[in-house]
Amino acid sequence: MKKSAALPVEQHNVEIQRNRARWASKPYLQENYRRFYRWIAARIDASRPGILVELGSGMGNIKEVLPQCITTDLFPNPWLDRQENAYRLSFADNSVSHLVLFDVWHHLRYPGTALREFHRVLAPGGRLILFEPAISWTGRLVYGLCHHEPVGLKDTLSWEAPPEFSPENVDYYAAQGLATRLFWWGEARGRLEGWRLHEVTPLPCFAYFASGGFSGPQFSGRFSQGLMRGLDRIAGLCPRAFAGRLLVVLEKH
Ligand SMILES: C[S@@+](CC[C@H](N)C(=O)[O-])C[C@H]1O[C@@H](n2cnc3c(N)ncnc32)[C@H](O)[C@@H]1O
Repeated sequence: MKKSAALPVEQHNVEIQRNRARWASKPYLQENYRRFYRWIAARIDASRPGILVELGSGMGNIKEVLPQCITTDLFPNPWLDRQENAYRLSFADNSVSHLVLFDVWHHLRYPGTALREFHRVLAPGGRLILFEPAISWTGRLVYGLCHHEPVGLKDTLSWEAPPEFSPENVDYYAAQGLATRLFWWGEARGRLEGWRLHEVTPLPCFAYFASGGFSGPQFSGRFSQGLMRGLDRIAGLCPRAFAGRLLVVLEKH
């Protein structure tokens, strides 16, 4: 099994630059991402007061579907709106209506510590929207075998950072199964004071898998993407077996 090797946090920026170089040559990956962003957009309630912010935006592609979204990351790349660290945000208390984290939650070694910071900046009733790998039977196979990051289902959970932790000293951490464990399998139970778990939706994603993601080969053309979308509709009947993505929405009390 892959282990979280101790890598410097700059590894994220190496991956952002590498993914940016691959993005243009992957039309079906782009199409699948736009579909994911539309699912996220459907969870955004424009009537709520406050700003819409994405943390860990990487390439910042969310703006294709949500142009009003403030894009941020640990790294101040020129295509992003600002630099932000999930553990110490520069936003004022109660000023954010929605926080979106797309494939970022599983990089937070201390999720409870980050949640506290998200709770501070979100307005009452504000939403935290997580889009993450789903570790169904298929997910376990695909993310376990075809992705370089560990799934980490047996990792000891470090909910809170130790007292000596400083947000400036984050390292590279990855456990793709973190959201599945916490929100789908229930390990977050008893840890979500101040939050309401509004939605946990496992989504079948064969069309996305067939796009090859960023690192794999693109298996599909227009015809097979259509076929895979059809398969996704059937696979949706058995998420424990087939889900590939997990959409989680938490609301601040
Ligand atoms: C797997 S990438 C996802 C990028 C983008 N959201 C996407 O879906 O293409 C994870 C991102 O989270 C960012 N990240 C990791 N730890 C973070 C932290 N503590 N605060 C803010 N961003 C963080 C990384 O820099 C990286 O851009």
